Amino acid sequence: MSDKLLSPVLQSRLDAVLTRCPLVPVITLERLDDAVPLGQALAAGGVTTLEITLRTEHAYGAITALRKALPDAWVGVGTVATLEQYRAAEDAGAQFVITPGSTLELLEYGTQAQAPLIPGISSLSELMEGYRLGYRAFKFFPAEVAGGVPALKAFAGPFPNVRFVPTGGIQAHMAPSYLALSNVVAVGGSWLTPPDLIRAGDWAGITRIARESLEMLKK
Ligand code: 3PG
Repeated sequence: MSDKLLSPVLQSRLDAVLTRCPLVPVITLERLDDAVPLGQALAAGGVTTLEITLRTEHAYGAITALRKALPDAWVGVGTVATLEQYRAAEDAGAQFVITPGSTLELLEYGTQAQAPLIPGISSLSELMEGYRLGYRAFKFFPAEVAGGVPALKAFAGPFPNVRFVPTGGIQAHMAPSYLALSNVVAVGGSWLTPPDLIRAGDWAGITRIARESLEMLKK
């Protein structure tokens, strides 16, 4: 049984990350050189919280480069599945860490880490393991497959003080219905960074998607 509890410092750092921008682009980089122009394009469209996934070898380098180029953005890491990856991402400068699922090892490390953890869950049992350690914010993944908006509405019954970042299968037009829920603080997705636009270096196109996605939230 663990006696570790999420530190208040990390909790408030998490709050700062989660309340900055209601959209979190899930970014996969095929080329390191795309990192900065892509981050700048998203920021120009108003999206300033960035999740760089560990799905290519460029992730750590991209995090370091983005921290330097965009000091006003929140630059985090996604697809973290092991402690080694968590530590390497912190060394690279990641300001938050997102995991697709939860292990006790990662949850415990996250309670005292440098970069705060947003653990991934898809069920209430997983949520309760994190809740016991003091976590009050989770990635809900894969959101659409795991029950979508109705599931999150149901989660608010027993856990009204827990907030979620639903991600997985969400498109721009679906984000408003998630964000209308009292327990959704931000929505994540790769729709904000289509690979074909990144490959083509269509940074204006990326800015447009970011801006239009944010606009949809105001309607
Ligand atoms: C993730 O890692 O969070 C997901 O792959 C993002 O899901 P999406 O590609 O369906 O938006």
